Amino acid sequence: MSPDTTQAEPYLVGEAMTGGYGAADILKTCTITAAKGEIAVIVGPNGAGKSTAMKALFGMLPLRSGSVRLGGEDITALQPQQRVAKGMGFVPQTHNVFTSMTVEENLEMGAFLRRDDIRKTIEQVYDLFPILREKRRQPAGELSGGQRQQVAVGRALMTEPQVLMLDEPTAGVSPIVMDELFDRIIDVARIGITILMVEQNARQALEIADRGYVLVQGGNRFTGSGRELLDNPEVRRTFLGG
Ligand SMILES: Nc1ncnc2c1ncn2[C@@H]1O[C@H](COP(=O)(O)OP(=O)(O)OP(=O)(O)O)[C@@H](O)[C@H]1O
Ligand SMILES: [Mg+2]
Repeated sequence: MSPDTTQAEPYLVGEAMTGGYGAADILKTCTITAAKGEIAVIVGPNGAGKSTAMKALFGMLPLRSGSVRLGGEDITALQPQQRVAKGMGFVPQTHNVFTSMTVEENLEMGAFLRRDDIRKTIEQVYDLFPILREKRRQPAGELSGGQRQQVAVGRALMTEPQVLMLDEPTAGVSPIVMDELFDRIIDVARIGITILMVEQNARQALEIADRGYVLVQGGNRFTGSGRELLDNPEVRRTFLGG
């Protein structure tokens, strides 16, 4: 194979990100990357700055220093909407569906930037999450927690992102529903979409992670493959409950 310079660095790179919501920095030279088609997972204690790191990558938090690159292009100065146009999809931790709108209206809202025919993408989302096809005329607020998370993921897929960022996609769902959601996330990665997700279910998430990050107090504490982190005695003892 000929050398491909676009592969020189991972597809998504947040490098030495530093910044916060006010005077004090929450993120401290935090570096997060995800390569094409890879599943990267961020874990860490409550308040560690995981959601803040996701917001920084998506352009919802001004950085005091550091940079964000996508496909080799510096996007640090771009607004979230411009990042969506560049191929980023983001499912925030909370308020990630319009509860009074139907499932299908939520999906249509997700495609707000598109001018082409979105029907095919809606069908792809329904193929991925068949229950949503069944419930397409129901208000999203009437769905179970796991089904709502499917709507949120589906909505983000409507812009046909290259990288999908998920902040705690399995929050508040049963272990069975969690496993199902992880299986669908693996399906999404298999079609070539880069996944970056924050997870409270650290052990299960690291099991499917190509790359894992343990964030503590806004900084990188441990970085490795999912397997390396699962096998690391200190990570196990401190973050995975032994
Ligand atoms: N909008 C905000 N304004 C001010 N401070 C905030 C804001 N959001 C978060 N913080 C603070 O930033 C720090 C990191 O919060 P963040 O939500 O990124 O943590 P997290 O790792 O996602 O936690 P959790 O596991 O609870 O979701 C916390 O001290 C939090 O109180
Ligand atoms: Mg969070």
